Amino acid sequence: MDRRIFHHPVLGDCPSRATLTFWFDGAPYQAFEGETIAAALLSYGIRQLRVHEDSGTPRGIYCNIGHCFECRVTVNESPGIRACLTLVEEGMEVRSGVQLANPLAEQARQTEEKQQRESRQEGAVPQ
Ligand code: FES
Repeated sequence: MDRRIFHHPVLGDCPSRATLTFWFDGAPYQAFEGETIAAALLSYGIRQLRVHEDSGTPRGIYCNIGHCFECRVTVNESPGIRACLTLVEEGMEVRSGVQLANPLAEQARQTEEKQQRESRQEGAVPQ
């Protein structure tokens, strides 16, 4: 939690708060009471909360106000929970989102490979 600001030059020291332990992808982390999942993970430098279900590109906090749904994680087996709005609870288990299988893309790839094989066979000149 060393990325947090504990002393502000104008506002002074941050009041001490109770800490909670939660889990993210199987590893334990600490959060302050009243802190969101996204804020707690960001304090550890964790910015990637999931990957795009189709392309696999990394996703994380974008709007941080609950509008974009880019921060979706699975919380205690409930998928699609917005990390920027959800407060950490003691013992909470959070999992990042993973890339999903895409049967249509796989079928298209196999069809293209088959067409390429067939066109190579048709173009072959016997000697
Ligand atoms: S970051 Fe946009 S909904 Fe959470």
